[in-house]
Amino acid sequence: MELKCFDDISELDRYAAQIFADTLKTKPNATLGLATGSTPIGIYGKMIEMYNNGEVSFKDATTFNLDEYVGLSPEHEQSYAHFMKQHLFDHIDLPRRQSHLPSGMVSDLQAECSHYDRMLTEQPIDVQLLGLGHNGHIGFNEPDDELQGGTHIVELEEATRTANARFFDSITEVPTKAITMGVGSILKADSIVLVVKGADKAGIVKKALRGPITTECPASLLQTHKKVVVLVDREAGRLL
Ligand code: F6R
Repeated sequence: MELKCFDDISELDRYAAQIFADTLKTKPNATLGLATGSTPIGIYGKMIEMYNNGEVSFKDATTFNLDEYVGLSPEHEQSYAHFMKQHLFDHIDLPRRQSHLPSGMVSDLQAECSHYDRMLTEQPIDVQLLGLGHNGHIGFNEPDDELQGGTHIVELEEATRTANARFFDSITEVPTKAITMGVGSILKADSIVLVVKGADKAGIVKKALRGPITTECPASLLQTHKKVVVLVDREAGRLL
């Protein structure tokens, strides 16, 4: 595991974006694993800047997002599909058919999980971007006695719903379920970039990187992966 600590968030964002741009330079049709949440917004901003400066093109890339809420249509302002359009897809040359998010709107959610896994098997992820939940979740793989390998439906923890309530009018509007790539699929990515920002994540990032490997902290399983780069800001990295 390689760890890099940044004083300047903008430099961190640039560094992370550069990893994706470099991947696309060596392999223009690379498969990128993407995340939502507050953490990657600045990184997507840098990717857009690089695209506008002619430093990177996404035209032959394929993207897979980690997760989506169950019950929110892609048009819903808080859906992850909407987030990705707003923060990245509407501003780059990635053909829409080459971007994938699991759908939380289909009637047969199990079939959707299998379909997403089949696509991931056909187009394995070259580089996966991850944020970190306060409880150690990655994607929406919440702490539990056991974790699932493939795409599956999860009940969101109260803590996760509370953390995400900031984006909704009230907590009652936060969906109770999500569809997420499993930890097995995440670990199959050729390389992983874990980004952690803010003092409130200092404890959990220490647990994830230095603590025991346990399903009670899903991000701790990243310790078993051969190629993980962890990018933290000064506050998040203060206990490392
Ligand atoms: C989002 C995702 C989540 C977030 C995590 C951190 O697609 O999979 O695991 O990365 O909840 O969220 P932020 O960045 O909002 O602190």
